[in-house]
Amino acid sequence: MGLSDKYKSIVFFTGAGMSAESGVPTYRGRGGIWSQYNWEEYACQEAFDRDPHKVLKFHELRRQSVLSCRPHPGHYVIAELEKMHPQVRAVTQNIDGMHQRAGSRNVTELHGSLWRVRCPSHGIFDDMGETFKSCKCDKCGSWLRPDIVWFGDMLNQDVVNEANLIVRRSDLFISVGTSGVVWPAAGFPKIAKESGAHCIEINPEPNEMSYLYDKAIRENAGIALPALFDEDK
Ligand code: OAD
Repeated sequence: MGLSDKYKSIVFFTGAGMSAESGVPTYRGRGGIWSQYNWEEYACQEAFDRDPHKVLKFHELRRQSVLSCRPHPGHYVIAELEKMHPQVRAVTQNIDGMHQRAGSRNVTELHGSLWRVRCPSHGIFDDMGETFKSCKCDKCGSWLRPDIVWFGDMLNQDVVNEANLIVRRSDLFISVGTSGVVWPAAGFPKIAKESGAHCIEINPEPNEMSYLYDKAIRENAGIALPALFDEDK
């Protein structure tokens, strides 16, 4: 009997380590984005107001880096499970769209998406290319900023509420590749635990939140996920 027979509401809570194995750099640790780039120059509203070209260029480089990567077997395991069990969900801190590229549809993106832009007056638009289609809004001429959560930004409250509900309803909560330091996402394992979910952590390295989990798999996502769901095919 596989895990998806035993549990009815499976939530995958993913962070940068999920995409790391596809080749997308993580944020922290050696080679992490924030050790190479100063977020104050590239990832906050003040930086965008000061020099929008520089910030958009940085995000175009991130797009190109993501497009040169492919989803790994762990992404496909989640997408396949969702096809068999529509209640399977991914709640991700990642902005790279890798879950969707693997075929997942039930994805809640806590920190927004690299593939959308936002006008302060006219809302949010898909923009999927290697470069931004347009830097200014067709309707009002305002600068279009990437629709992602930067340092100092509030998260979209509707998205946070949706994620909270999904996590509270889960009976199996599997966190994959997050360092558990960025809030409110860092609070989700505790919410899952207190709601009675069985909690599994997949991460080669332990962190401050690791004590909350019922089981830790100290392995890379691309190896651990197919092994964990081997009997669910
Ligand atoms: P981090 O870069 O903080 O942490 C990545 C985690 O992935 C670490 O705990 C690694 O041990 C683990 N890891 C690395 N390779 C792995 C692999 N192959 N399989 C499994 N785990 C692996 O990334 P996040 O926790 O996602 O926010 O960071 C949270 C937020 O901080 C990001 O969403 C981003 C950043 O600032 C915004 O941009 C708003």
